[in-house]
Amino acid sequence: MFKITDNVSWVGKIDWELRKFHGEEYTANRGSSYNSYLIRDKKTVLIDTVWLPFSKEFVADLKKEIDLKTIDYIIVNHGEVDHSGALLDLMMEIPETPIYCSKKGVESLKGHYHTDWNLNIVKTGDTLDIGEGTLTFLEAPMLHWPDTMFTYYSKDAILFSNDGFGQHYASEAMYNDKVDQSELYQEALKYYANILTPFSAQVTRKIKEILGFNLPLKMICPSHGVIWRDNPAQIVEQYLKWADNYQENQVTIIYDTMWDGTGKMAQAISKGIKSVNDDVVIKQYNVGRSDMNDVISEIFKSKFVLAGSPTINKGILSGLAGILEVIKGLQFKNKKAAAFGTYGWSGESPALIKEELKKCGFDVLDDTIKSLWNPNEEVIGSCMDLGRKVGELCK
Ligand code: FEO
Repeated sequence: MFKITDNVSWVGKIDWELRKFHGEEYTANRGSSYNSYLIRDKKTVLIDTVWLPFSKEFVADLKKEIDLKTIDYIIVNHGEVDHSGALLDLMMEIPETPIYCSKKGVESLKGHYHTDWNLNIVKTGDTLDIGEGTLTFLEAPMLHWPDTMFTYYSKDAILFSNDGFGQHYASEAMYNDKVDQSELYQEALKYYANILTPFSAQVTRKIKEILGFNLPLKMICPSHGVIWRDNPAQIVEQYLKWADNYQENQVTIIYDTMWDGTGKMAQAISKGIKSVNDDVVIKQYNVGRSDMNDVISEIFKSKFVLAGSPTINKGILSGLAGILEVIKGLQFKNKKAAAFGTYGWSGESPALIKEELKKCGFDVLDDTIKSLWNPNEEVIGSCMDLGRKVGELCK
């Protein structure tokens, strides 16, 4: 338990050991937290719970803090198991307690748990008077699931934003102003790039809608990572930038390679870029050896992406094929791309990569480079030429 205001306490779980999230899809290299909040106004309200493996610990800790029977309402901002996972154990203790969630939240909770809890649907603008303060509900569909909603507590001007504005970032410091700012920025960006990118249009619309309410805002309490108490508007403004076809002056070269032939092509492209453009940031990743989510964060920041792989069994090496599949789902906007790769006999890979890059939503150059065997001087020259063209396009 950690007191945030006179009325509001954090009752979640910091998960220092987490390294893989969403199955194996997301690398949580700095751990995470599952933030649950307890409001003690005239009514007692629990907002979200924690992930299933910590369910019993969560309920036991909560019992030390309050008599569970004094909880008047439970708010489920989002039904995914990292936030609703402790409900089964909790509702065994207080089965009649009303749960408030969105219409889609009812479907999600019933779909996950197949129980008959006292579920109550709320929609944007609905309120719950809990004493000195009022809870106002704001549906936020696709931030990042259809059922997601935010809850605003008027007395302390706190927005409980669930996954929105979150970070997979374990810290006992709890607040944004008490942690390393560079780490926090990296984790917030990684979270946006890897989870929220496909829903950027909804992010922009929802933020503008919320800003239209002119609610005072002292804190944003997300369900992962630290609480935004120092200038909470900073992360809202940052989200508006990230949602607006974000790019920095960066080129990212991603490749997979068997015997370093495609790796040499990547090096030559990089040299070509550098030879004509000393300002653009060039990053290069052998994706077979790199953290996929960190690479995706770099692609998110890029204006140009080059992707290469040798041909294997008429296809693309799995390291590159895997990350392209993920990028396809994220649908980054406002980025150019090109393909390259070596081959020994059939040579399908570069053309396949080009088609995949188009499906990713990139504006793809026709300058695909194929190298039979190890790149010779002529191929290295072509890679340098492609690099120079990319460098010029990035000016
Ligand atoms: Fe943190 Fe969508 O769950």
